[in-house]
Amino acid sequence: MYETRVLSGMRPTGALHLGHYHGVLKNWVRLQAEYPCLFFVADWHALTTDYERPGDVPKNAREMVVDWLAAGVDPNQATLFVQSQVPEHAELHLLLSMIAPLGWLERVPTWKDQQEKLADRDLSTYGFLGYPLLQAADILIYRARYVPVGEDQVPHIEFTREIARRFNHLYGREPGFEEKAKAAVKRMGSKKARLFNELRRKFLEAGDAEARARAHALLAEQQNLSRGDRERLYGWLEGGGRRILVEPEALLTEAARLPGLDGQKMSKSYGNAIELREPADSVAKKIRTMPTDPARVKRNDPGNPERCPVWELHKVYSDEARRAWVREGCTSAGIGCLECKQPLVEAVLAELAPIRERAQAYLDDPTLVRNVLADGCERARELAAETMRDVREAMGLGYD
Ligand code: TRP
Ligand code: SF4
Repeated sequence: MYETRVLSGMRPTGALHLGHYHGVLKNWVRLQAEYPCLFFVADWHALTTDYERPGDVPKNAREMVVDWLAAGVDPNQATLFVQSQVPEHAELHLLLSMIAPLGWLERVPTWKDQQEKLADRDLSTYGFLGYPLLQAADILIYRARYVPVGEDQVPHIEFTREIARRFNHLYGREPGFEEKAKAAVKRMGSKKARLFNELRRKFLEAGDAEARARAHALLAEQQNLSRGDRERLYGWLEGGGRRILVEPEALLTEAARLPGLDGQKMSKSYGNAIELREPADSVAKKIRTMPTDPARVKRNDPGNPERCPVWELHKVYSDEARRAWVREGCTSAGIGCLECKQPLVEAVLAELAPIRERAQAYLDDPTLVRNVLADGCERARELAAETMRDVREAMGLGYD
């Protein structure tokens, strides 16, 4: 029952580009085969900065989801949904707001950074300060263990861990916790109980992380523990109360990031992006007009790949033999820049062809995406409801 869930979200930006594909979507496709995954459109998060001009949020959301599907995210493996269609996120956000210290929120670096970066908007709002808390609710409501995100999101995951810890500390301390935990250990059978206690001692006395991991594995394979007992033991293991919310970990994408056409980070707002569903002639033109090493003014001026954004693309798309060809041809002026770019045009078009083809099916029949999201929302709400029952009860709101 205690599966290792993966969850990630993206704000609805409309059509995605190759940077998203290499930096995020390929990773999601890998993960969906290994773990139960939840991927969602963070449309409320978009409102925290764009509340004055939200635009057509549903249209942007669906267009982005078409790109997820086109990139190979599979609704039969992963659960795809829209944040605002699972209102339980808002309820958890509200309940967590009772225990979220203002100082913690003010110290999250993105709060000040973004206010400076987006100086044309008024971000001195309650919603924007609460951005990381809403994100914490997104993650904690599914008891997700891993959250694939970029480096910039690490402070938000750290914040989420602190909120989960604080919640468990405040509400995991039921009366008679220790006795209940000890009784639960006994229920594991004498051999496993001894091993569990031994691992717990090693972790609590010496901080042995491996002992903790082995104890987690032991708990995960226990068939005969109730959910309540299991949560008690996860908390007991760490010297705390019952674990109601699970502390997540960031899963940093290691895949080489794909730079934009000018060598900077690829981004729609920098005008240096290739969209996933961009027509082939436009893709070819963009690559052919990419800037190159400024030293190569004339065809027979030698160049240096290290000073050329085209070389960054060869690092992603070309094998060693072709890279040797580029290095040799560039530094000796043996090849021209257009010649150097041609294999990249072909490689990018080959990569985009199946994506465009898959997207077409969804563009031809918009009900497909609506259905994928409706099914995903239903499934997400079931999972969210389970956590909310425990949360309400822990906070003294268990009516019935
Ligand atoms: N803040 C994330 C971003 O800007 C989007 C997001 C919202 C998210 N909720 C999340 C990511 C939960 C991971 C998990 O990229
Ligand atoms: Fe860049 Fe290739 Fe031209 Fe060298 S030959 S400057 S690597 S495009």
